[in-house]
Amino acid sequence: MIPIAKPIIGENEINAVTAVLRSGVVAQGRKVEEFERAFADFIGTKYAVAVNSGTAALHIALLAHGIGERDEVITSPFTFIATANSILFTGARPVFADIEEESFNIVPDSITEKITPRTKAIMPVHLYGQMCDMRKIREIADKHHLAVIEDAAHAIEASRDGIRSGGLGDAACFSFYATKNITSGEGGAVSTNNEEIAEKLKKLRLHGMSEGAADRYSKRYEHWDMEMLGWKCNMSSIQAALLLDQLENVEKYWQRREEICHIYEEAFKDCLNLNYFRVLPNSKSARHMFTILVSPEKRDNILWQLQAKGIGVAVNYRAIHLLTYYRQTYGYERGSFPVAERIGDSTITLPLYPKLSNEEVQYVIKVVKDVTTS
Ligand SMILES: Cc1ncc(COP(=O)(O)O)c(C=O)c1O
Repeated sequence: MIPIAKPIIGENEINAVTAVLRSGVVAQGRKVEEFERAFADFIGTKYAVAVNSGTAALHIALLAHGIGERDEVITSPFTFIATANSILFTGARPVFADIEEESFNIVPDSITEKITPRTKAIMPVHLYGQMCDMRKIREIADKHHLAVIEDAAHAIEASRDGIRSGGLGDAACFSFYATKNITSGEGGAVSTNNEEIAEKLKKLRLHGMSEGAADRYSKRYEHWDMEMLGWKCNMSSIQAALLLDQLENVEKYWQRREEICHIYEEAFKDCLNLNYFRVLPNSKSARHMFTILVSPEKRDNILWQLQAKGIGVAVNYRAIHLLTYYRQTYGYERGSFPVAERIGDSTITLPLYPKLSNEEVQYVIKVVKDVTTS
């Protein structure tokens, strides 16, 4: 069996976690601060605030920008449900705008069409690691006084036109879930250049408390206060230790995924029965996922055949607006966002991770070619 994902947990990660366990500080401690510093430096923003999931990162980033009841946030219907759900958590409404054929990312011009007096933010998603056109999105946001909160869950290494993920947004949200490019099992972070937002995020992740435990217990006791209603989604030192180690190797892991993607691309470039997602020019894709597109009528059958031959597969994603909750709540139907629907009906994700061997890649290619031509 070749699984769809395999986290990189080696001796270094095990030693890093063991050291935290021995230290006695297993909840949010100085290790989390250390990771936040390292991650902000890596992304190239002034601040990073670590949380326990990418979903929580999106949620508190929206709250920190004042988004709530009766507001609207424009986002893509072609993403993981966390993107749209995080908007719902705040009481706001996700408003979808269709995606482009080339990048599977939100079409900047269709954002403009969806702006109403209630719109407060745009949440672009850098799908599969391909960045959105952030210059255009920033321009639209500035013109209409909107916040830009990037869903960069797939995109820690990404850049486009010289802009990194997190570079032009008011905040960018990252996930360190088990399948992500670096992982702590569960985890996330928000990056920002705005000090006030960073301070707010720190409170929002911990009940709105004025000080985290690491600060409270490392000096003379002072009473803490609750200054706003926050949540409970801070990161633990165990997670931070795992991430610190992986961050050091992020480029090496990316190189290997890039290499595997090139092998897939070369192998599939002349196949008539399948297409694949292509990285745009002027872009460095974070190479989070490699997906092929097959005919929608055959997609599920191909998926099952790949599985039967020992290949882990996934569908990233079926268009969100067609899922039961969104259909029932907002009355969406087929035809609402045709590009997202067509791609959502055609896509198959293949295994892509540094531990995948060349033999495994060749086996995946052979089976994909067999089942798509039969
Ligand atoms: C595009 C996207 N956004 C947000 C998330 C949420 O991240 P998490 O699973 O860490 O909550 C994910 C995770 O899979 C994702 O793929």
